[in-house]
Amino acid sequence: MQNQPKTDRIIIFDTTLRDGEQCPGATLNVDEKLIIARQLARLGVDVIEAGFAYASPGDFEAVQKIAEAVGTEDGPIICSLARAIKADIEAAAKALKPAAKGRIHTFISTSDIHLEYQLRKTRAEVLAIAEEMVSYAKSFMDDVEFSPMDAARSDPQYLYQVLERAIAAGATTINIPDTVGYMTPSEFGDLIRGIKENVPNIDKAIISVHGHNDLGLAVANFLEAVKNGARQLECTINGIGERAGNASLEELVMALHVRRQYYNPFLGRPVESEAPLTNIDTRQIYKTSRLVSNLTGMLVQPNKAIVGANAFAHESGIHQDGVLKNKLTYEIMDAELIGLTTNQIVLGKHSGRHAFGARLKELGFELSDTDLNKAFLKFKEVADKKKEITDWDLEAIVNDEIQQAPDLFRVELVQVSCGSNARPTATVTLRTPEGEELTDAAIGTGPVDAVYKAINRVVNVPNQLIEFSVQSVTAGIDAIGEVTIRLKHGERIFSGHAANTDIIVASAQAYINALNRLYAALQNKQVQSEGGENPAAAGTTV
Ligand code: KIV
Ligand code: ZN
Repeated sequence: MQNQPKTDRIIIFDTTLRDGEQCPGATLNVDEKLIIARQLARLGVDVIEAGFAYASPGDFEAVQKIAEAVGTEDGPIICSLARAIKADIEAAAKALKPAAKGRIHTFISTSDIHLEYQLRKTRAEVLAIAEEMVSYAKSFMDDVEFSPMDAARSDPQYLYQVLERAIAAGATTINIPDTVGYMTPSEFGDLIRGIKENVPNIDKAIISVHGHNDLGLAVANFLEAVKNGARQLECTINGIGERAGNASLEELVMALHVRRQYYNPFLGRPVESEAPLTNIDTRQIYKTSRLVSNLTGMLVQPNKAIVGANAFAHESGIHQDGVLKNKLTYEIMDAELIGLTTNQIVLGKHSGRHAFGARLKELGFELSDTDLNKAFLKFKEVADKKKEITDWDLEAIVNDEIQQAPDLFRVELVQVSCGSNARPTATVTLRTPEGEELTDAAIGTGPVDAVYKAINRVVNVPNQLIEFSVQSVTAGIDAIGEVTIRLKHGERIFSGHAANTDIIVASAQAYINALNRLYAALQNKQVQSEGGENPAAAGTTV
């Protein structure tokens, strides 16, 4: 089995850029996907599912670019999803061509409910399609993964047959999805054990699991699957994904790390073995989580395990007292283990470009010269207003600057007047995509509302603001504020993010950021309808 990572440890298959990106509003552009893919490689994931090549020209380009830039010989395997349809498989193979190690992941539903109502096919037909399409994928590359969609609600006897035929046709990984997040841990463990015991050629493939979090059980289900023979876990950063999301990478990895003595025997290791169970560099977890949250606009809830703002905070006096005496009284893992630094004060307004670049390198950011210059200018701007710049400030500055929202409208000026006896009024000047400067003013219920109304008067694209959030990066009156917003246009959601020491300016920039994405999507649609319907995009969401 070429390409297959060794199975004496757990293979981490990251699907943030495919299943994760499917959640409303998380849509990323190609450049942003590339930034995340590079960070996933630094994190040490074994496989990156970079997208669904056939779904749209944008998805195809993202898979191809990631295959080219990140799919190096010593980098991760790059994977594309494909329905069990020839055209899908061909698109996946073509997009993956530049990757040193590529994988086609093909799937078809096997539950009776999907067969009857969605596919309108018999079990025998699906069995034949699965076999034929795995074999077709195999004609393009050796590494083929097969998923029987809705496996968790499929008849186990039928599932065994489909898996046996898929493996015989060349599938090197068979992935068992709990598509609707229906399973409980012991049921999911039994399902994996049943597959191990009843699929005669199962030793020729790696068993993988994929699951959604509708009942909040995805991570628990996966850990039970590991105990029963699963060796690949399909997960996303911050658990983002369809509906309630996918199993969260950081929770799985840290559970396997913190409790490795418990899991070691299930992988045939001595209980005391200190060897890591995954290839993940846990110190990259926090940064990856922040990057994905900033670029997708999907905020992380404060009490989220591992990466939530409160995950390492101790509020109760008894806990604080215990932790001061000995961390282990109330902490099962050190915050530094996930890369949460002690947030040192590192730079100030006199720091030069060299010191700035060097600290970013230490924090694990590798920026191109252009991005470094952009980030340095922003740093100088912030340092003029804020005396001490911490690691977290630097991270906010970099994440803000490397965002790749289309640069269509640009904020040139924001001015507000508000107060207890004033009517909140805003004046904004925007530079249009054509380079014209337009100024308008509006009155609102508050300063942000006034700014947004003034912006709407210039941009003039109907939308509904559905989420607005401000978070401060550090404590203190001069802290950088991060604004994340989500807006709706028809059925589509667009997100925007910006950081600034002035939260009104950050609000305006976040709004423009989201409007630029919306505006670009509308332009794209117009180009497509002028050039005819894109056949690739029809009915391909999973
Ligand atoms: O949830 C699911 O079943 C999927 C498959 C395509 C693996 O995402
Ligand atoms: Zn899924």
